[in-house]
Amino acid sequence: MKEYGHFDDAQREYVITDPATPWPWINYLGTEDFFSLISNTAGGYCFCKDAKFRRILRYRYNGVPMDDGGRYYYIKDGDTVWNPGWKPCKTQLDAYECRHGMGYTRVTGEKDGLRADVLFFVPIGHRCEVHRVKLTNTGKTRKSFQLYSFLEWCLWNASTDMENFQRNLSTGEVEIDGNVLYHKTEYRERRDHYAFFGVNRPFDGFDTDRETFIGLYNGFDAPQQVLAGTSGNSVAHGWSPVASHRFDITLEPGASEELIFVLGYVENALEEKFVSKGVINKAKAQKMMEAFATPEQADAAFGRLRAFWDDLLGRFNVQSDVPELDRTVNIWNQYQCMITFFFSRSASYFESGIGRGMGFRDSNQDLAGIVHLIPERARQRILDIAATQFPDGGCYHQYQPLTKRGNNDIGGGFNDDPLWLIFGTVAYIRETGDFGILEEPVPFDNKPGTEVSLLEHLKISFAHVTENLGPHGLPLIGRADWNDCLNLNCFSDNPDESFQTTENKTEGSKAESLMIAGLFVAEGKDFAELLERIGKDAAHVRKVVADMEEAVKKYGWDGQWFLRAYDYYGNKIGSHDCEEGKVFIESQGWCTMARIGADEGLCDKALDSAVKYLECEHGLVLNTPAYTTYIKDYGEISSYPEGYKENAGIFCHNNPWVIIGEAMAGRADDAWRHYRKITPAFTKDQALRKVEPYVFCQMVAGKDAEKPGEGKNSWLTGTAAWTWKAVSEALLGIKPQFDGLLVEPCIPIGTYRIHRRFRDAEYDLTIRQTGKGGSYFIPYKPGSQVIEIEL
Ligand code: BGC
Repeated sequence: MKEYGHFDDAQREYVITDPATPWPWINYLGTEDFFSLISNTAGGYCFCKDAKFRRILRYRYNGVPMDDGGRYYYIKDGDTVWNPGWKPCKTQLDAYECRHGMGYTRVTGEKDGLRADVLFFVPIGHRCEVHRVKLTNTGKTRKSFQLYSFLEWCLWNASTDMENFQRNLSTGEVEIDGNVLYHKTEYRERRDHYAFFGVNRPFDGFDTDRETFIGLYNGFDAPQQVLAGTSGNSVAHGWSPVASHRFDITLEPGASEELIFVLGYVENALEEKFVSKGVINKAKAQKMMEAFATPEQADAAFGRLRAFWDDLLGRFNVQSDVPELDRTVNIWNQYQCMITFFFSRSASYFESGIGRGMGFRDSNQDLAGIVHLIPERARQRILDIAATQFPDGGCYHQYQPLTKRGNNDIGGGFNDDPLWLIFGTVAYIRETGDFGILEEPVPFDNKPGTEVSLLEHLKISFAHVTENLGPHGLPLIGRADWNDCLNLNCFSDNPDESFQTTENKTEGSKAESLMIAGLFVAEGKDFAELLERIGKDAAHVRKVVADMEEAVKKYGWDGQWFLRAYDYYGNKIGSHDCEEGKVFIESQGWCTMARIGADEGLCDKALDSAVKYLECEHGLVLNTPAYTTYIKDYGEISSYPEGYKENAGIFCHNNPWVIIGEAMAGRADDAWRHYRKITPAFTKDQALRKVEPYVFCQMVAGKDAEKPGEGKNSWLTGTAAWTWKAVSEALLGIKPQFDGLLVEPCIPIGTYRIHRRFRDAEYDLTIRQTGKGGSYFIPYKPGSQVIEIEL
């Protein structure tokens, strides 16, 4: 099977050896508020704080060819023009390698005795990308050639940048000063920020006007200045501002030369914007340039970045005899959790960074993947999310990261949303022991003066379910539950309506969700435990949770599995009575995680049914049989062709629910098999999978699809946090509790070791499974402990 790359676990890198990957295989740079997406050919873009409103580089979505736009270095060596990352010229290279590491990407290309090694990273404490370009003459003769840098500015708002050309083509403004090319479009008016692209040595030519550099009818692969070995020294006025430096370089055999480029972003206070009329204040940019003036400085900054990730990834480690498991747990899964925490679902090669901000449910779930890594930031995120809640417990479905305000275009009405706040908060407190967060005052809808404690927010979140019950005592679904595409009140026959925001029929709706019911029982039990732990009465919570369990057993059990929902009219969805969509995954996952009817054998039966009906070679599909026609009563789910997305795709996000359900039922072999099927490190066929082999993707085409096993929507998916929870807690069995760690494994691996930092404690555990089973509780106590556990 063709391989495009391999893991280098010692370096925590994925090494791509063929640039023509089946889809751009990307990485993310940045740890604070300046972020970059970078592909294995150096495509992609960056932004500060908000992918929509503060976009710095322009990128072409849906491009032909794929993945156009990025930070390109061109080398003109005689008549040959090439790029170290292969694209955009696609000149055949003598050697190519891309190493995606933790917060950095290194692209190396070699051609005709010249090697170019470009290290890209976003340093901690600075709002910039650093590009360290090292050129080495690997041949036997002296070489004279030209190096060009190139990037294209986005006119800040990534959305209007693509639409409002009658304005855009006249607004572009730049300044050139010293070694730095400044992008100051719209700075003359309301913007307090500009961007710049500088280098640590004088250049021999430059361009800032795209047409001059590339030529109106050329592509990125044939910029006219590069082909001619010249620069236009152009100053952009309107049209499309770009930034390119040219260097004429001669290298003796064996000699190297290094250049350090900085692509930065600066904000200035209103009164400090200009130094004279029209001349921008460059002090901060110059300071940033000075911070990366020498290779030693760049090295030190890179060292700090590596230390940051070493520290984070040193908090939870497993050592087993399964390398795929170890590299997933120790490196890539935790890394992906950090990225999903930063980005929610906003910016990837499948999310444009324009349409979606931070999801209420998504961001709460993402917390589960990072509370052990960056608890302080988790704390702030919880408070930000809670502040987008309404007094009735409902909440905005999304909010914008720049303003932290709820998104009015989408609004609320997704009835699972509020419960996720309990989920996120409980995960945070179990990890940190920080019960104090419950006392934090948090407003409603960000309105000052409306503050109540976070605990009150949790209470009204919980009550939002009990105040919105349907005819069977099950939760009303609203616009949708976790499955955004099961739209039971939508009834749309107009293609111009959004499935998500349209509710053509709500009056008297009987649409109820078994997924929310399971979530309510599971989170309700956690909530009750939390209340009792802080000395509050949880009797009411326990009572309504018990009522819900009864309602599920009475009206939500289909004989061999849990029903999925009742539709608007009160008809069953996900039942053997249905022609299509007989079995769904979400309710099997949530009701078994909630252990509803476990004593009566319902959980085992539901899990058996998941194996029997939903499992295929590549994982568990969302529903089966797939819907073969559009069903107005069900909405978007039936809009997808069979086997894709929510219509019988393997929606990886929900596979861990079944994995955890399996583990809770003690079914280790099933849990472990389901886990391996969706985990990319175990996936063999890279060409079929298409997307990055080092991160989880949201969806793998299911058994009914044209190409089962083909992945899509990589990186930004709740799969990251949920597989983390599944593998760290359910399989490896390290379960944070309010007062310690519970060790309760369910994985068919005899002996393994865990290193776990927990609050101020460090544990080195050796876990030996001898078949006795059971669990082991480690009460929290600061300091280091070495513990041998036999179960
Ligand atoms: C959304 C989630 C949703 C899931 C299933 C994802 O794309 O981000 O909020 O739960 O799809 O529909």
